[in-house]
Amino acid sequence: MGNSLENPLQWDWAGDADFAAFREELAGIGYAPAEAAAELGVPSVEALYPLDYRLLPVLLDRLESSSRPRAVAVKLLLLGLPVRSQPLCAALADRSVDFMLRAGLAVEQEGMFHALLSVVPFQHLQVVSDKLFMNADPGFTAEGLSSENAVWRLDRTTRIMARALPRRGWRSVLEPCCGSGALSLLLAGRAGRITGTDINPRAVNVARFNARLNGAANAEFRQGDLYAGLGQEHHDLILANPPSAPGLVRAWNREGGTAGREVVEPAIAGALPRLADGGLLLCSLHLGYRDDRDIQDWVARQFPAGEYRTLVVRHAEHWSADEYALNEALRKSGPRDLETYRRTYRMYRDGLERGGIGTVAFAVLAARRGGNGSALVSDELYQPGWERRIVDLAG
Ligand SMILES: C[S@@+](CC[C@H](N)C(=O)[O-])C[C@H]1O[C@@H](n2cnc3c(N)ncnc32)[C@H](O)[C@@H]1O
Repeated sequence: MGNSLENPLQWDWAGDADFAAFREELAGIGYAPAEAAAELGVPSVEALYPLDYRLLPVLLDRLESSSRPRAVAVKLLLLGLPVRSQPLCAALADRSVDFMLRAGLAVEQEGMFHALLSVVPFQHLQVVSDKLFMNADPGFTAEGLSSENAVWRLDRTTRIMARALPRRGWRSVLEPCCGSGALSLLLAGRAGRITGTDINPRAVNVARFNARLNGAANAEFRQGDLYAGLGQEHHDLILANPPSAPGLVRAWNREGGTAGREVVEPAIAGALPRLADGGLLLCSLHLGYRDDRDIQDWVARQFPAGEYRTLVVRHAEHWSADEYALNEALRKSGPRDLETYRRTYRMYRDGLERGGIGTVAFAVLAARRGGNGSALVSDELYQPGWERRIVDLAG
């Protein structure tokens, strides 16, 4: 099987030792979240997910004035920008360089290395996803790749969901909408079994690679629409970060329909018969502030009365409709194409206005099936950053 849009990575030639050597070499040069943030001079690890495109000129100046090996790795693998072959080969062992080339993470051309995908340090993991700035190295983006079919780049929704994950032992974890697999792979060391699904075949190829890269032999990723093709076995944790951004079109990667619920609702409905007694469902949501009045009714409609304890917690980060529309438009068109940027911005702005949505916030819904009053989510969820509870219903 050659590299293609659907299967950008291939590793049938690689053994566990090849993956481990690459992982350990990255760790050895300090290619880890805090160190990468320090190398880039951004104020915190959170600023990596996602990096602000506008900072690129400043970040590049900083990297280019550093002689540390990890600066070269950060430029190629995190920013997805070309680096000269000589410093890269000085920074990394031949074995790691060969690994990247053979797997399809990078190509070498005329004395330069170009990244085809990114490798992002995320807590204790190395997570491959599509490049954060797809247009920044023209000519080295797979044909047909767009913001709609790109493998989800770790962003604030992934980062916030990661904080909400209870770090305890799980027998069986199911993650529909797994993207790169980053969230469930965070739990791999504490879980008996992990199953993830994604509708995007490219994401599944990358998630499988990420399982190998992070030594998670207990993780299995499959292509499919939510729960299609899965059996009826029960899981004690089901987590989902589905597309939930209020938008205009339903697409794999982002929009959840005008109200942001088109994938969220079937993701919740399909989770319920698969939750073990006492099992926990965690699902991300975007809320228009308008939703505050009816979110309780909406939650009540998703869960059979009396069987679940449910909680919705809103994160403090939120955006005015205008900021949100600008952000979405920038993600879709990139700064190169002003006309598309402007048109997309207007589409979002008008859609939100029609929906009466003035502010967009991120939230997590937690639901426990039965389970005699045990805590719904881990302490992490109550750290500063979570603004307030919107729904807190005892089952
Ligand atoms: C917001 S991203 C989250 C990815 C990953 N869980 C994370 O947090 O980094 C949503 C993911 O849902 C996938 N997706 C969208 N609709 C889906 C569906 N009906 N069934 C399965 N996956 C879907 C997209 O391809 C995308 O990878």
